Amino acid sequence: MSREIPLPRDAQITLTQHILRHQSERFRGSLSTLITQIGVAAKVIAAQVRRAGIIEVWGQTGEVNVQGEEVQRLDEIANDTFMSVLEQSGCVAAMASEEEDDWLKVPEAIAGEYLVVFDPLDGSSNIEVSTSIGTIFGIYACSSPPQEEREVLLPGREMVGAGYVIYGSSTVFVYADQTRVDCFTLDPVVGEFLLSRPNLRMPTKLGMISVNEFNEPYWPEWMGALMAELKERNRDERVITGRHIGSLVADFHRNLIKGGAYLYPVDSHNKRGKLRLLYECNPLAFISRAAGGSDTWGAGSVLELHPTSLHQRTGFAVGVKEAIELVERHYKREG
Ligand code: AHG
Ligand code: MN
Ligand code: MN
Repeated sequence: MSREIPLPRDAQITLTQHILRHQSERFRGSLSTLITQIGVAAKVIAAQVRRAGIIEVWGQTGEVNVQGEEVQRLDEIANDTFMSVLEQSGCVAAMASEEEDDWLKVPEAIAGEYLVVFDPLDGSSNIEVSTSIGTIFGIYACSSPPQEEREVLLPGREMVGAGYVIYGSSTVFVYADQTRVDCFTLDPVVGEFLLSRPNLRMPTKLGMISVNEFNEPYWPEWMGALMAELKERNRDERVITGRHIGSLVADFHRNLIKGGAYLYPVDSHNKRGKLRLLYECNPLAFISRAAGGSDTWGAGSVLELHPTSLHQRTGFAVGVKEAIELVERHYKREG
């Protein structure tokens, strides 16, 4: 005789259990190890972020990165942690980081079959004010280890998966492939990511806009017209609100759950855009679309762009489908 073990009603599954359960369809081959290892890197970085202010990780290193920005100590810690975990995982052939001038090749003896692009710490300006920051990554499969830069400059649509980690009021890990998006929350007591929002779908109703409105003097005309049209919806009652953290990844996460859109167009101060195509826009565009949302650079998805340089920037809008369609309509009108 046997009997089924009754599971407690609130039983939750860990990231590792989730990966093993879906290994044959969604985490084939070494992708399962890669995602597990990214989860480990997330916990290591989270531990450092949580101690910012206690240990000496606040402030700047005194260096300026390839983007021309001051390198924060946590930027450097997150970058080193992510790079070393990826390198040691045995799953990665090459990587490219927002914080590194060049792409990096993993020594052949420990090289695997994936290319990973990442922004190790997004929203660095929020570090010392204890506001949400995160790590963004995109994964490509490579049939053979890349030898030249052009082999790393792949369009976002070729990604096999993408995700991010947010170090916020809780630490969350979001992973998407073409089929679905799942969200895990770190239980800090047991040190495991637990599945907290399975199969996340972006709401279809637009409820919030995230934009740095003080860039208005530099905006192209269509942005002004777009914002006016959106504000007009609030004439009788407030249907849209403004929410802007200044950490793209945290703004995106809130918009994904609550139904919103993040906008950072090309403007006269950022003539090619502010956000980076490879490390920021492509992964978030991929996740948005997997969740039923959309994205655009103005007249099409950033995922269709063929990158010409590692640190390429672009205008970007991402979130609820209806808002992205509206962005494209206004962009087109200006020609
Ligand atoms: P990073 O911290 O990786 O350099 O990225 C900062 C990005 C993004 O996270 C944020 O939304 C945006 O830059 C803010 O830009 P502004 O300060 O120009 O509004
Ligand atoms: Mn960033
Ligand atoms: Mn960054």
